Amino acid sequence: MQAIEAHGARIPVIGFGTMTLKEDLGVELVEAALHLGYRHLDTAQNYGNEREVGEGMRASGIKREDIFLTTKVWFNRLAAGDLEKSVEESLQRLKLPWVDLLLIHWPNAQIPLAQSIPALCKAKRSGFAKHIGVANFNIAMIEEANSLASEPLACLQIEAHPYLDQRKVIAAAQKHGMAVVAYCPLARGKVPNDQVLQRIGRAHGKTPAQAALSYLEQQSIVPIPRTSKRERLAENLGSLQLRLSVAEMAEIGRLKRPGARIVSPPQAPAWDS
Ligand SMILES: NC(=O)c1ccc[n+]([C@@H]2O[C@H](COP(=O)([O-])OP(=O)(O)OC[C@H]3O[C@@H](n4cnc5c(N)ncnc54)[C@H](OP(=O)(O)O)[C@@H]3O)[C@@H](O)[C@H]2O)c1
Repeated sequence: MQAIEAHGARIPVIGFGTMTLKEDLGVELVEAALHLGYRHLDTAQNYGNEREVGEGMRASGIKREDIFLTTKVWFNRLAAGDLEKSVEESLQRLKLPWVDLLLIHWPNAQIPLAQSIPALCKAKRSGFAKHIGVANFNIAMIEEANSLASEPLACLQIEAHPYLDQRKVIAAAQKHGMAVVAYCPLARGKVPNDQVLQRIGRAHGKTPAQAALSYLEQQSIVPIPRTSKRERLAENLGSLQLRLSVAEMAEIGRLKRPGARIVSPPQAPAWDS
């Protein structure tokens, strides 16, 4: 599968987001996704499904080295020492010695980056993660984190879909050579009802979800759509076969609108847009 390169990380251009997928369904969907051709999985300590994700990976029979696995440290575990302990617990649940990418899930205003970023770098040096990065950081935090990091930060994971204008924060991450991974790439199910995306998808014999995912992929942004339905796993992966024209990319780009952010919990930083 095509991949985005960032500081030595090769991140497959579409991933399977696993939030909310637990127990038998979680294991089955992870296994099914890998059999269909996904090679990138996104989980987190906070999703409560690391056990299922690890099990699905093993059930697939696909070589560990051929799968790019991300997990994240929750924002209450970022203190030096605690971060390392949290990652060890994640690895125990996954039953794996390392993950490909370890992210700080959200910043924590009570724990300075001067503490959490060196702890994240230490987790990489200890061999718990091949690569490290951050999620839900604003531009000032991206700058500070990069100045504090003794190991390269390979990734910024943020909310990104056709309705949300993230150009400034994406430019800040890319300036530091970070890959951008898009969560909520289907705007949590709003995309399939969009008439512009329906029309553009239809013109290629594709669905609106595939058009929205291709829009991100063609900008070298890695979407990690989630679905609880097997048939949609294949549909979302099929976005890689769609090539949008310059005019179609521009038209989807004009869907941006104020108030489009979906995820902004109390621990969110001051967003840049
Ligand atoms: N770093 C963070 O703070 C953060 C925050 C949120 C999410 N994430 C990650 O990003 C992943 C994706 O984000 P998300 O789950 O919030 O939102 P999303 O992927 O934009 O949307 C998921 C929703 O879209 C539906 N869907 C999926 N494929 C579809 C298709 N082809 N056609 C129609 N509907 C479809 C799903 O319903 P069905 O299940 O019925 O298919 C589900 O309700 C998460 O699973 C998680 O791994 C990270």
